[in-house]
Formats: sequence, structure tokens, C-alpha cells
Amino acid sequence: TNGKATNILWHKSSVGKLHRQELLQQKGCVIWITGLSGSGKSTLACALCQALYSRGKLTYILDGDNVRHGLNRDLSFKAEDRAENIRRIGEVAKLFADAGIICIASVISPYRRDRDACRALLPEGDFIEVFMDVPLQICESRDPKGLYKLARAGKIKGFTGIDDPYEPPLNCELVLPQKGINYASPCEMAETVISFLEEKGFLQ
Ligand code: PPS
Repeated sequence: TNGKATNILWHKSSVGKLHRQELLQQKGCVIWITGLSGSGKSTLACALCQALYSRGKLTYILDGDNVRHGLNRDLSFKAEDRAENIRRIGEVAKLFADAGIICIASVISPYRRDRDACRALLPEGDFIEVFMDVPLQICESRDPKGLYKLARAGKIKGFTGIDDPYEPPLNCELVLPQKGINYASPCEMAETVISFLEEKGFLQ
């Protein structure tokens, strides 16, 4: 049995996802924000959470950095551990969505395959992938945690964008920040996501 548990049956409750969504007046989904370190994933997640809260909508943020302090504290940044990090976050996000909550995952999630596997966990349309399309040069100039500097100095090995890959989405739901003369503000980006959610009927 490979050490894995067998003879496990699914226990069904009489209160289901539809009941919970009715209670909350919203539809559960996963907003998956991917992009380089320093691209503004967490900032967008917070702005989105705040804007939805103001509209009376329940959200929950799963932030890579934070989840790595608890649930995923045993994982490193090598490819297979990043894959496991994303898999667990995807599974947890799926539970939140099933609870009727708008779950916002903000994680680098550099591999397309890992993101696609999370998409496949959810009902069609309920996984909304948002790409923070900010060039490495800009992320590096921001360097909010000083990690790019350490990576360039060789003090962090395998840093995404420097000596580790990032695969941008090919077919995601939204690409942000929409570039004009200036980058859109976090509030403007949050409104773009909210318009998408409204259009798709997640906010009822
Ligand atoms: S991943 O790739 O999705 O598993 O990464 P994630 O869980 O989102 O964690 C990214 C944050 O960890 C810090 N950090 C690193 N990032 C990338 N590569 C390496 N080697 C690394 N080491 C530490 C970094 O602060 C990331 O935070 P963000 O919020 O993205 O800047």
C-alpha cells in the first residue's frame, strides 16, 4: 500500500457548498496570484481583500511567505519542494473555495505545471489565475526584502529570476498591472479583479 492509508470513504454532510454560498451571498473561488518576488503579489492580495471586505465579501489570503512559517515550514526552494508547496496551497485553497470563501493565494509558483495542477483541482472557471507581469529589472530595483542583492552576491542560491526559473502563464485570466504610462495602483488592480469577479457572477 506504499504506506498510504486505504479504506477511506468520503463523508458527505447535509449542508453543502450551495448552502454555504447562499449564507455568504458569494461564490467560493481561488484567485491565484503568480509572479516574481517583489512583483506586488502580496500588496495586490491585501488590496483585494480590503476592497472585497468593504463590499461585505469574505476572503482569506494564503501567502507563500506566511504559509512557509507553518504548514510548509518543512519545505525548501528546490523545484520538488516548490511543487509540494504549491500542491499543498492548492489543496488548502480548494477547501476554502468549497467553504464558499474567496481564497486569494499569493505565491511565486514559478512552474506552469504546478499552477495547472492546482487549476485542475477546482471546478471549471473557479480558478482565476492573475499574472503580476513586472519585469525582473523592476522587481530587483524595488528589492523590498534585500533578497535580490543577496542572490546577486551568491548568498542565496536558486533565487527565482536570478538563478532559478520563472515560467509566465500562457493562458491566464488576468494580466496585471496593465501597463499605461504608469503602473496601475494596487487599488486600481484590485478593482480590475473585482470587475472580473462581478462579470463571472462570483459576487452575486
Ligand atoms: S514558491 O516558489 O511559490 O514556492 O515561493 P513562495 O512560497 O511564494 O515563497 C517566496 C518567498 O520566499 C522568499 N524566498 C525566495 N523566493 C524565491 N526563491 C528563493 N530561493 C527564495 N528564498 C526565499 C521570498 O521572500 C519570497 O517572497 P515574495 O513575497 O515572493 O517576495
